[in-house]
Amino acid sequence: MEASVSGGETAPETHRLRVSDDIEISTYLEIAEAQSQRAGAEAEPGGGSPQEPATRDAVAILDFGSQYSQLIARRVREQHVYCELLPHDVEEARVRALNPRAFILSGGPASVYQEHAPQIPRFILESGRPILGICYGMQLLAHQLGGEVQPADRREYGHAVLRVADPVPPLFAGLPSEFSVWMSHGDSISRLPPGFRVLASSDNSPVAVMARDGLVGIQFHPEVVHTSFGREIIRNFLFNVAGCQGTWTAGSYVEETVRSIRERVGSGRVICALSGGVDSAVAAMLVHRAVGDQLTCIFVDNGLLRRQEPERVLDTFRRHLRMNVVHVQAASRFLARLAGVTDPEQKRRIVGDEFIRVFAEEAERLGQIDFLAQGTLYPDVIESTSKETRAAAKIKTHHNVGGLPEHLPFQLIEPLRYLFKDEVREVGRELGLPEEMVWRQPFPGPGLSIRVIGEVTRERLETLRAADWVVMDEIKQAGLYRQVWQSFAVLTPIRTVGVMGDYRTYGHLVALRIVTSDDGMTADWARIPHEVLARISSRIVNEVPGVNRVVYDISSKPPSTIEWE
Ligand code: XMP
Repeated sequence: MEASVSGGETAPETHRLRVSDDIEISTYLEIAEAQSQRAGAEAEPGGGSPQEPATRDAVAILDFGSQYSQLIARRVREQHVYCELLPHDVEEARVRALNPRAFILSGGPASVYQEHAPQIPRFILESGRPILGICYGMQLLAHQLGGEVQPADRREYGHAVLRVADPVPPLFAGLPSEFSVWMSHGDSISRLPPGFRVLASSDNSPVAVMARDGLVGIQFHPEVVHTSFGREIIRNFLFNVAGCQGTWTAGSYVEETVRSIRERVGSGRVICALSGGVDSAVAAMLVHRAVGDQLTCIFVDNGLLRRQEPERVLDTFRRHLRMNVVHVQAASRFLARLAGVTDPEQKRRIVGDEFIRVFAEEAERLGQIDFLAQGTLYPDVIESTSKETRAAAKIKTHHNVGGLPEHLPFQLIEPLRYLFKDEVREVGRELGLPEEMVWRQPFPGPGLSIRVIGEVTRERLETLRAADWVVMDEIKQAGLYRQVWQSFAVLTPIRTVGVMGDYRTYGHLVALRIVTSDDGMTADWARIPHEVLARISSRIVNEVPGVNRVVYDISSKPPSTIEWE
C-alpha cells in the first residue's frame, strides 16, 4: 500500500510565512474571500496524489458521472482493496503511477452514441488488466469492443430479478442462481462484442451480465444496497477475477503514511490546526508519529465551542498524547467581531476570516515553518474535482475551522486525502486516539455562532451551551450518540410565556435538532424514543436559566438543512 501524503508535485516553491504586517495578512484574507466566492472551486484533478509506483493492490475507478461513483469506491475499500476514483479522461501517467491491478468503469448519464460521449481511454482497454464495466461502463465496453448498444423501449428503473446462466466461479461464486438487483438504464446491449458470452439476464435485459476473460460488464448496480449480493459480486470481481489480495488496512496505512511523511518532512517544521474534530486530530497524530516535536499544533479557542470542549482537546493532545499544542484564547476577538451580526453567512465569513488571522499570527510567532498538515478527506477531494458540483448552487458557505486558503506559503501535507470518514476513524483507533474523539459527531466550523439564532453574545452562548450539554448527556446515556449523525440544541430568538410554580415566565425557546444521515448531504429527523425527549426537555427547562420551552425539529433535509443557519 502506498502512503497518501500529497501535494508534493502541486506545491509551488516553498515560501516562508511572513505575516508580520497587515498587508501580508490581508493577502490571506483576500485569498480566503476569493475562495469562498469561488463556489465549487476548481482544483487540480485529484489535487496531486502520491504518484509513486504502488506496492499494494490498487483499483482505478473511472468516473463517468454516475451518482453512485463514490459508493463504488466505498464498496471496494470495504474489501480492503485500495482504490481511487479518477475522471474518465484521466491522463495515462496518472494511471501508470497508481499501477492498478484492475479497472472499474462507473455508470453515467450519457448514451454511447451521443456526440462527445465519454469513452474508455484506449490505453486502459489495451492494458490487458481486468475491467468491470457497470451500466454505462458496460455499454461502453460493448460499444468499443465491437458489440451493439440500443436504446431500450422504455427506461428500466428499480428492482429486477437476475437469472444467472452460469452460477459458478469466478463472478457468481457462492451466489444463488436468482436474486434481486437494482437497474437504472435506458440503453442496453443488443449484440455482444466478439468472444463475450452472457452470464446472466433479466426480463428486460437479456444481456444483464457479459464477460470475456477478465472483462466483465454488468447492467445493474452492484454498488447500491438494493442489489442483493452486490457486495459479493464486487468482492468476487476483486478477488476471483482481478486477483486482489485485500491487504489494505488501517495498520498498513499508518505504517506507510508515517514513513512517507518522515521522508518528505526531513528536518522541516510542521504546523497543524486542531479543531477538536476527528479529522484534524488524526492528521496531527500521523504527522506526530512521523516527526514528533517537529510538529506544533495550534488550537484556536474561538469562544464558540461546546462546554468543556477546549479543556478536553488540550487534555487529550497535551497530556495524553504529549504533543506540542499552542492554545490561543481568542474568544474576545471573535465575539467582538460578531457583535451585532445576525446574518448567518456573515457570521460564517467572520469566523472564517478571524480564524485565518489568528492562525497566521500564531504561525508567525513560531518562526520558520515549512509544512502545513490538514485533515482534508477524500469526499472533499472528489467533490472539489467533480464537474457536477462546480455548477451546484451554494446553499451555505462552509468555513471550516482549520479550513485555510489553498495557496498558503507552506507545503501541504494531507495525510487523509484518500480516506473516507469511517477509515479515518479506523486509523484514529489504530493510533490510539481516545474513543470519545474517534466517534465525535461532526461540528460546524463556525461553531455555536450558527446555533445561536440572531445575535451571538456571551450570555446567549452560555444558555445554548447549558442546553446543549443536556442533549449530549442524555443522548449518550441512551446509547444513541453513535447511531445519530448529529444531536444538538439551537437557541432561538423566540420568547414564549410559561408558568413555573405560581409565576408567569417569559423565557427562551430551545429547539432540539437530532438527525440521522450517511454523509450530511441528506438527513432525516431521528425517531428518538419519547422518554428520552421527555428527559431532555424537562432537564433543559429545569437546569438552564431563562429557558421555559423546548421543541423538537421534525424536518428532513431537504427541504430543511441540518443546521438552522
Ligand atoms: P447543513 O446545515 O448544510 O449541514 O445541512 C450539513 C453538515 O455540514 C455542517 N455544517 C458546516 N460545517 N462549516 C462547517 O464546517 C459550516 O459553515 C457548516 N454549516 C453546516 C453541519 O453541521 C452538518 O454536519
